[in-house]
Amino acid sequence: MSLTARPPLIGVFDSGVGGLSVLRALHQRRPDCSLLYLADSGHAPYGERDGAHVVDRSLKIAQYLADQGASMVVVACNTATAAAIDALRGRFSHLSLVGVEPGVKPAALVSRNKRIGVMATPSTLASARFATLVQRHASDCLVVSQACPGLAAAIERGAAAGAEIDALLDRYTKPLVEAQVDTVVLGCTHYPFMADRIAMRLGPDVTILDTADAVARHALNLHGTSEPDSLPEVRLRTTGQTTVLERLAMAHLGLSMAAQLVEI
Ligand code: DGL
Repeated sequence: MSLTARPPLIGVFDSGVGGLSVLRALHQRRPDCSLLYLADSGHAPYGERDGAHVVDRSLKIAQYLADQGASMVVVACNTATAAAIDALRGRFSHLSLVGVEPGVKPAALVSRNKRIGVMATPSTLASARFATLVQRHASDCLVVSQACPGLAAAIERGAAAGAEIDALLDRYTKPLVEAQVDTVVLGCTHYPFMADRIAMRLGPDVTILDTADAVARHALNLHGTSEPDSLPEVRLRTTGQTTVLERLAMAHLGLSMAAQLVEI
């Protein structure tokens, strides 16, 4: 096993619990890595706020994660990546920074009828980065951009918002079915937790893509190998309600642990 001198901690953040889908992929691929997850639930949702808020929060959180010893920060949020990755790279040149963006490129490659749907926050879909992504990788496709206001916030509220989530999913999948897309990109890290319910509405012939595993693979390649004698641990922090984060970490990662409330 090749060793690196870097501390093995990877910081991961999202506006809330959505980035747990990326944390799950990181943890599954490399259970020997220490991970520190920060859910900015006290300041969510990002996708319906102005860009300055998201940049400000992202800078503060990256600073917090660096102060905790992270040598890498994974921005496990499409909205924050679109709004703040350039500012983060400018401010934290000593950190390894990895962002996420909607999987338009793989969708254009797998789509047979060249009709693809993208479900994401209004802010991600309105961003210059998203326009460039489509232009660069899907110029031969019809791209149906479906903004999903309210969906991330409802997923954040969890089971209590069950009926609301169903109504939102009905509303947001309908235009995609009508447009006869054969591939749908989940362009918000909250949505993979609803993948089954989205698939049920889109039907068996539609391929659903999210980038969590590809992002985890990329981040781990950059990160290198952990010290063999380190004791890996996953830590959960939130600026909002600890119970929501704990419940979802248990449900989706099988991690039973206390989340800690932090003020950032
Ligand atoms: N999970 C975030 C994303 O990937 C957005 C959720 C929000 O609007 O806060 O875009």
